[in-house]
Amino acid sequence: EEPPVATAVPQAGREGLVLLGRVGVVDPASLDDYRAHGGYTALRRAFALGPAGVIREVTDSGLVGRGGAAFPTGRKWQATASQPDHPHHLVCNADESEPGTFKDRVLMEGDPYALVEAMTIAGYATGAHQGHLYLRGEYPRALRRLEHAIAQARARGFLGDDVLGRGYAFDIEIRRGAGAYICGEETALFNSIEGYRGEPRSKPPFPVEKGLFGKPTVENNVETLVNVLPILTMGAPAYAAIGTEGSTGPKLYCVSGSVARPGVYELPFGATLGELLRLAGVRDGLRAVLLGGAAGGFVRPDELDIPLTFEGTREAGTTLGSGVVMAFDDSVPLPRLLLRIAEFFREESCGQCVPCRVGTVRQEEALRRITERTGAAAAGDIALLREIGRAMRDASICGLGQTAWNAVESAIDRLGAYT
Ligand code: NAI
Ligand code: SF4
Repeated sequence: EEPPVATAVPQAGREGLVLLGRVGVVDPASLDDYRAHGGYTALRRAFALGPAGVIREVTDSGLVGRGGAAFPTGRKWQATASQPDHPHHLVCNADESEPGTFKDRVLMEGDPYALVEAMTIAGYATGAHQGHLYLRGEYPRALRRLEHAIAQARARGFLGDDVLGRGYAFDIEIRRGAGAYICGEETALFNSIEGYRGEPRSKPPFPVEKGLFGKPTVENNVETLVNVLPILTMGAPAYAAIGTEGSTGPKLYCVSGSVARPGVYELPFGATLGELLRLAGVRDGLRAVLLGGAAGGFVRPDELDIPLTFEGTREAGTTLGSGVVMAFDDSVPLPRLLLRIAEFFREESCGQCVPCRVGTVRQEEALRRITERTGAAAAGDIALLREIGRAMRDASICGLGQTAWNAVESAIDRLGAYT
């Protein structure tokens, strides 16, 4: 049995938290307790605003996707809502598989009704009557809690043919992943639901036009959807006042590694990396921090004043990704760590396109040679890695191949790895 949710949320129960406010406080099995803690006020406001009004609020809030790519959510919703082709689909991407990412799990296990309510609002706004929740296969507790929450919501009229008697039909079906990282890529996920191999499709067409079963589809990450609740309850201007102009609202971070209190933290955008690490109790001897997961990049201990915003991390030449913050101290052998990352990408490549299928193998081989040679690069090794990395980034079909060299590149350029 997995550890209880509260141990993964050091801030659990703390006042003022917007996304984690109910986690560790509310009974995740009780719809009544959820309602007693403010649940379903956002859906009522959504019905009062109407679909166009909800999309306006979400657009004005400045919310961007929290899965890692930061695409404007209001634009995505509007693009789907305006498609003449029907039916429209809503997909919640809960396949969180980026190494070091566990924020969606905490939300689903600790506050499952919030996701059910948020999906209902997203479906209402975009004209979808069916929600598909694609859940990471390794999250059995989230599965149990969500199944229970969906059944309770259905029994009490919060899902079904006539949600809250407002003439809107909406239901949610859970589909479980089977352990493939690539199925978190939005179009591979569609293929997986449709019963095909989990291989990404070429984009465009984007899912908003042709997605699940070839129909207009909104696909959002769990954290993105859960943000819609405070947007509707506090109103777009109040929400947009949190964070910075370029990155509005609160953000969840998954802090792990060389810290005293690993777990999920909520901070408004704009806090610095150093502030977050101090909150988590960073240990002495910090050597590097991996931001954004395996697809992200390393930063040095002298760069902890980087503001945790999309624009701030971009300016610093790194990425916030899905909010992964992994701290490494001197005890971690860097070449071995980089080799592990390369093994991961080689293992998870779907093999559909050559640059990624071959590139991830060649990258791993080069890193293994260097690692076995006690970690120092020989003449030509770095140049070869750069060439493989460039080919993967420029010519791969999807984000997996395009980012498979990011961490290694940043370790060479920022940390001076292999010298
Ligand atoms: P992307 O930039 O291609 O797309 C982001 C979203 O915006 C997609 O839903 C896409 O359909 C939509 N979009 C983009 N341009 C559009 C347009 N012109 N019209 C309509 N919709 C448009 O990024 P992608 O490949 O979907 O995601 C990459 C990110 O995923 C990376 O930043 C990485 O950090 C993150 N990631 C997260 C994981 C996790 O477990 N949370 C796992 C692996 C990667
Ligand atoms: Fe598959 Fe890699 Fe190509 Fe993506 S980049 S489609 S994971 S082979």
